[in-house]
Amino acid sequence: MGNAFLTPDRFDDEYFYHMKVAVCESCCTLQVIDIPDPDQMFHENYAYFAGTSQYMSEHFRVMSEKLMAEYVSKDSLFVVEIGCNDGISLQNFARAGIPHLGVEPSANVAQAARDKGINVESGFFNVETAQSITERYGHADLFIATNTMHHIEDINSVAAGVEILLKPDGVMVQEDPYLGDMLELVSYDQLYAEHMYIWSITSLGSAFGRHGLEIFDIERNNFHGGCMRYYLCRKGGRKPTERFLVQQAKEDELGLKRQETYVAFRKRCESARDRLVERLETYCQQGKRVVGYGATAKSATIINYCGLTTDHIAYISDTTPTKQGKFSPGAHIPIVPPDVFTENYPDYAVLFAWNHFDEINAKEKRFVESGGKWMFPIGMIEEK
Ligand code: SAH
Ligand code: TYD
Repeated sequence: MGNAFLTPDRFDDEYFYHMKVAVCESCCTLQVIDIPDPDQMFHENYAYFAGTSQYMSEHFRVMSEKLMAEYVSKDSLFVVEIGCNDGISLQNFARAGIPHLGVEPSANVAQAARDKGINVESGFFNVETAQSITERYGHADLFIATNTMHHIEDINSVAAGVEILLKPDGVMVQEDPYLGDMLELVSYDQLYAEHMYIWSITSLGSAFGRHGLEIFDIERNNFHGGCMRYYLCRKGGRKPTERFLVQQAKEDELGLKRQETYVAFRKRCESARDRLVERLETYCQQGKRVVGYGATAKSATIINYCGLTTDHIAYISDTTPTKQGKFSPGAHIPIVPPDVFTENYPDYAVLFAWNHFDEINAKEKRFVESGGKWMFPIGMIEEK
């Protein structure tokens, strides 16, 4: 299970599930089915601290400032963010003195946010939580969910909750990996237990449309391998923007509504897998040293789907202290701190954190100068 880094004493009772993916023929929602229980994924030892990446912190600072300027009237405003994690976004609202509330089930990251002076309640957001927040705090002007909505199986409960919580002219802002980008890049590693949905305008519009909400604007960015930001309001509340209408029409051209698109995607995933395995086996036979860079949740999908072992990848370097000293889920590849990497550069580093390439490449110039190569584990298995 992605993000379930473990110590050797847990090897024998490791949790496994069969990661089957399905697409709904009517609303085109792409979903991992049979996912683990949420408590198994979001708990006091949650592995992902969003603020680890300076680039992501800057991205969400810019987003927060834009939202503060555009969507929140200065005198009476209240912001709710679900999946606020370590406060990567809410810290900006807190600093500006804006009344806010974070809802976060993973206790360790929630505490990291509280340590920054952010108001956070522990728990899973759903229709009941929304009711309770509304009774205690009133309605929200702004509801934010970045890289979170695709983690929540009961999307109907969340959408019903947003409908209750938002002010009549309130805005919901959601951002997460975009289906169009996943299909294009063959970034099948976006799929794992926590990433159980990969949304599109078509599928998200359908899910929230059942609860009186509609998308009126979108923005794309390249973070996390290609994300879409969706702006939603109550039906008829705002005029749809031109860029939203253009992208909505483009989803038809991308074939998101056709089954063949997904069958072709599966074949492209199989080819990407075969290319990666072949390349790693060749390097292994040539006696090259190959390691992994970034013990991402995504890496669990690649490593286990491709059947990689410590014969292919000696270790994975990662900056997150709670991952270091542990082993990757399934294949049990050791996770080490970055100094192991910098003290003795390998020939190749499989960039499991490929979505942070610019940041990592800038930081690891000496690796490339010393002759090392990055290997992108998805799509065409590019090397740089
Ligand atoms: N918003 C941050 C963190 C995303 S990680 C960012 O964009 O980087 C996703 C977060 O969602 C995790 O911290 C997880 O604990 C939280 N989460 C999962 N299910 C949730 C739910 N039902 N309600 C609120 N938060 C949830
Ligand atoms: P990320 O790609 O953001 O997410 P996910 O786990 O959802 O797939 O994870 C980035 C991981 O890469 C995280 O464990 C921290 C690590 N990392 C480094 O080791 N060095 C770096 O310079 C950066 C940016 C990330």
